[in-house]
Amino acid sequence: MRVLVTGGAGYIGSAAVSILLERGYEVTILDDLSTGHSELVAPGAKFVDGSLLQKAAVDSALDGVDAVIHFGAKSLVGESVLKPEIYWNTNVNGTRILLEAMREKGIKKIVFSSSAATYGEPKSVPITEDSETKPTNPYGASKLAVDYMLTSEAIAHEIGAISLRYFNVAGAYKSKSGWLTENHNPETHLIPNVLKATSDNPLKIFGADWPTADKTCIRDYVHVVDLIDAHIMALEKLVPGKHEIINLGCGSGYSVKQVVDAAATAVGREIPFVISDRRPGDPAVLIADISKAKSYLGWSPTRDLQAMVSDTWESINVTNR
Ligand code: UFG
Repeated sequence: MRVLVTGGAGYIGSAAVSILLERGYEVTILDDLSTGHSELVAPGAKFVDGSLLQKAAVDSALDGVDAVIHFGAKSLVGESVLKPEIYWNTNVNGTRILLEAMREKGIKKIVFSSSAATYGEPKSVPITEDSETKPTNPYGASKLAVDYMLTSEAIAHEIGAISLRYFNVAGAYKSKSGWLTENHNPETHLIPNVLKATSDNPLKIFGADWPTADKTCIRDYVHVVDLIDAHIMALEKLVPGKHEIINLGCGSGYSVKQVVDAAATAVGREIPFVISDRRPGDPAVLIADISKAKSYLGWSPTRDLQAMVSDTWESINVTNR
């Protein structure tokens, strides 16, 4: 089976490409390298350097393809508030163009990277797929719009679609050609920032006055390799005419301070931090209910927070050497 991986030169996409190739799939990558990295393009994959907004590039990327895993997107919450137009264009219009090209070529299988950001501030946790969707930023709204697009596309055009709603993805993957890790610019995610903290440039903990046991925010972290396993299982479970939405997390929550402690264990020293103001838009607690991922996909996460932090630490050290 040949799979088109959009965003295959990014953090999650590049790990997915390597794992797919190792498991015997043929892979085409579509990436415009706007946030992806050319050095993460796997040598065994066909690479199309282009954007989701360029129909000709999308058409060429879909040549000979049986199914699509659609990671390609803009994904910074803060940027989405300042420049929503980029998010509506790349995430929503880009997916519309992709679906149009798939329709023209008769390609009827798609697994989509949705997000916990579609839920917004939850009324209760854990969050199930039936929880209210009320995104608090344009990034989450753009992902929700695509979920709606897929529901209607599945009904009208008999495609099989699964949206996987990620909670906090972390960790790194050691492929045959080296570590594939998080390398965003700017880096906003907690685990890489914890690991980069120095006494001159300490980690900023965004608020220590939250209504949680240790007063810092709680999130549900899932290892990138477990996450990709779920995508491959989803590829094999697509049903024509049906769109399923499935949460992916580990099903339990860790506070910012617990992440800092796990990082101290991984690096063998204390992590310097300061308490700063709350970051606008952060909810106190986000935890996924992952029963549907277990029952529908037969998936369970197998890597814990310590593995996510340790892998990221090793990958950062190797990458910076
Ligand atoms: N945090 C800090 N200091 C930092 C970075 C983060 O204290 O330097 C805290 C945040 O306030 C938050 C937690 O660490 O409480 C996790 O923050 P991240 O930025 O790593 O992740 P988010 O939970 O904000 O975002 C993730 C995904 C988004 C997605 C969102 C959905 O990265 O793409 O979950 O809710 F939109």
